[in-house]
Amino acid sequence: MSIWRTKPVSAFEAEMKKSDLKRVLTRWGLTSLGIGAIIGGGIFTLTGIAAHDFAGPALALSFVIAGIGCLFASLCYAEFASVLPVEGSAYSYAYGTVGELFAWFIGWNLILEYMMGATTVAVAWSGYFVKLLHLFHIDFPIYLCNDLATATEKCLAAGLAAPGFAFNIPAFVITWIVTAVLVKGIKEAASTNNVIVIVKIAVVLFVIIVGAFYINPANWSPFIPDKVPALDELGHETGKFKFGFGGVLTAATIVFFAYIGFDAVSTQAGEAVNPKKDVPFAIVASLIICTVLYILVSLVLTGMVRYDQLDKAAPVASAFSGIGINWAVFIITIAATAGLTSVMLVMMLGQTRIFLGMAKDGLLPKWMFGTLHATFKTPYRSTILVGALISIIAAVTPIGKISEMCSMGTLLAFAMVCIAVMMLRYKRPDLERPYKTPAIYLVGSLGVGFNIFLMCFVRPETWVAFLIWGTIGIAVYFIYSRRHSNLNKIEE
Ligand code: ALA
Repeated sequence: MSIWRTKPVSAFEAEMKKSDLKRVLTRWGLTSLGIGAIIGGGIFTLTGIAAHDFAGPALALSFVIAGIGCLFASLCYAEFASVLPVEGSAYSYAYGTVGELFAWFIGWNLILEYMMGATTVAVAWSGYFVKLLHLFHIDFPIYLCNDLATATEKCLAAGLAAPGFAFNIPAFVITWIVTAVLVKGIKEAASTNNVIVIVKIAVVLFVIIVGAFYINPANWSPFIPDKVPALDELGHETGKFKFGFGGVLTAATIVFFAYIGFDAVSTQAGEAVNPKKDVPFAIVASLIICTVLYILVSLVLTGMVRYDQLDKAAPVASAFSGIGINWAVFIITIAATAGLTSVMLVMMLGQTRIFLGMAKDGLLPKWMFGTLHATFKTPYRSTILVGALISIIAAVTPIGKISEMCSMGTLLAFAMVCIAVMMLRYKRPDLERPYKTPAIYLVGSLGVGFNIFLMCFVRPETWVAFLIWGTIGIAVYFIYSRRHSNLNKIEE
């Protein structure tokens, strides 16, 4: 039972043959899917915290830094997708090439990417939904639409007494709505999703073009604010610092979240007309398009509003209410609310499909993760489990903490993908590669270095949680997965 055993390529081919998905997605169809999965809570919400607390106007620089790290990873993803155009994701790629433990550990980190990603977006959704209700003069009590730490910070800032209890009801409810849609099946939601993607891109372009007229260049100065001591929600010094170049890098780890999703294109290989060529194209194209949009939005945002005045819950909409264009606030808020829902759908769908893949391979219990509903044909048990976990975590945890956990898992998964692609080039130079990453050993090493470097700027408490998560993952592998793997039967 070697930890390096791999799943035979013939097993992947057999699974793909059994799949009765229709091949309808073209290269631009796939690219739009990627953009739909990428644009969401990162740009609409996390830009607030990242600029307000860490980078100031240098937010655009943080986006450049995070974008470069993702670009290296996306080039490596693209090569993998061309070698093994299978449904699934980095987990399947690694299982077919590098080995079981490596694949398991990527899968374990992808849980952070997809599940914590959906949780972050649920909290971001709540911020925009509350803003939308406010436009209709309906106000949620602070302690019913925030976690306790955020509610305390907001109450104290508003001169109110700190609440003893808080629960983010909108985040909790939207998660259960998305869960219900996923249990019933996503097919009907696919065309709605396309419309949402168009609306989302239109709103981002709108923000850039209209916002550009309201830029006050004085807001960009100083571009990188000086380092200052960081305070906690009660205003006490924490012994840590904000801003300065370190702050720009911390902000890069926060906005890195905004890029997550380009890899979701790889989960659609089963529906692509020409997966070996179009999936790699769409992975890289969607990332480049979003990088350009993000840099422009962050310049406009920090140019419109001074960074220390940016709203942390709904910064883009608030920037427009600050300059009195209320109709724009209305459009942005509605589009963001719809757009965030579609990101949640893709992320939760991705999570249950990765679980399904792992369960089919025997690495997770089939009863929980691999059984389909008799009528809906969806993995309903794992969908409900994922929904329950997300709804509870989203209701009681600050968005910054969740998104950092998501970024950590994703950064490590990306670094591992870069390592895996290089190993595969070395071990199997003979494989057909319709897309070959240029200068693979350089790009791959830069990808590993960059993603690990960014991990160093994540806060220490996130590191502790991450190490505990990783240890549990390894333990589960040796206690359960290794013994139940389908490869045991093949080996016998
Ligand atoms: N990139 C996605 C978002 O920002 C996850 O919501």
